[in-house]
Amino acid sequence: MSRIAFVNGEFVPHGEAYVHVEDRGYQFADGVYEVCEIKDGQIIDLDGHITRLQYSLSELQIAMPMAQAALVVKMRQTVTRNYVKNGMIYLQVTRGVSPRNHVFPPAGVKSSIVLTAKSVSPMSKINLYKNGVAVISVPENRWARPDIKSIGLLPNCMAKQEAKEQGAFEAWFVDDDGMVVEGSSSNAWIINQDNEIITKSADGSILKGITRAAILQQIKDQKLTIIERAFSLREAILAKEAFISSATTIVMPVVKIDNHLVAGGKVGAMAKKMLESFYHYAEKTDI
Ligand code: PDD
Repeated sequence: MSRIAFVNGEFVPHGEAYVHVEDRGYQFADGVYEVCEIKDGQIIDLDGHITRLQYSLSELQIAMPMAQAALVVKMRQTVTRNYVKNGMIYLQVTRGVSPRNHVFPPAGVKSSIVLTAKSVSPMSKINLYKNGVAVISVPENRWARPDIKSIGLLPNCMAKQEAKEQGAFEAWFVDDDGMVVEGSSSNAWIINQDNEIITKSADGSILKGITRAAILQQIKDQKLTIIERAFSLREAILAKEAFISSATTIVMPVVKIDNHLVAGGKVGAMAKKMLESFYHYAEKTDI
């Protein structure tokens, strides 16, 4: 089945979906993105992702490429035209096409938009959820604005590649004080021996995960204890449970950090429960 992409106002076959060589996303990573999960034919947390898209764009003074309602229609169409029932939709907006110049282009240059969707079998992650995943720690070396969901992801790609080469699933950025910041494409969580759930506060030094927000809501509704503060790598290794969250992993248990097993390498009960009840709390939009 051939895939279809939405590029600057048109649906085109995926294999023929191109942007201009002077698109500022291509030359300067001058753009932002969002990834939403598609689950059982519904877009998960669409509003949250659109709100964060607007935040990222406004922080960079990039205009929305089209009216929000129209964008949502195009997102839905991208999902249906690719027959995606379970998988993800990728949205990217850049500052547009203009002769290479670090200074922003003159008013009137339209921002570029690309939408793609792909199917991902729910079965593909079953074993990861069952057995948990390993993470490695890497020094934080990203820019000081990870709250903006920028397409400039080279440090994240290098960290993820290093994780892969070490047989791990994710890399956690750790700051100079030994505190875990977040994953290369996920937020980081631990549960300590007192059953307190700990995750770094969204103080500008992490991406304010949409999945993170839904998990926080779930924790509050279930009257569990949440502490939004940074935790050290040492605390994580000694934790009762650890997990990561993102639109593509939801609640993924972490059972190994560098060479240390977390809780003997067993998937924790609380993370498992949180994953099971996640969709009850997440916002769902029919396609
Ligand atoms: N990444 N932190 C970083 C650095 C991320 O890239 C992501 C998401 C998250 C979690 O955010 P959310 O819960 O809204 O997905 C945290 C996406 C999935 C990606 O880059 O593919």
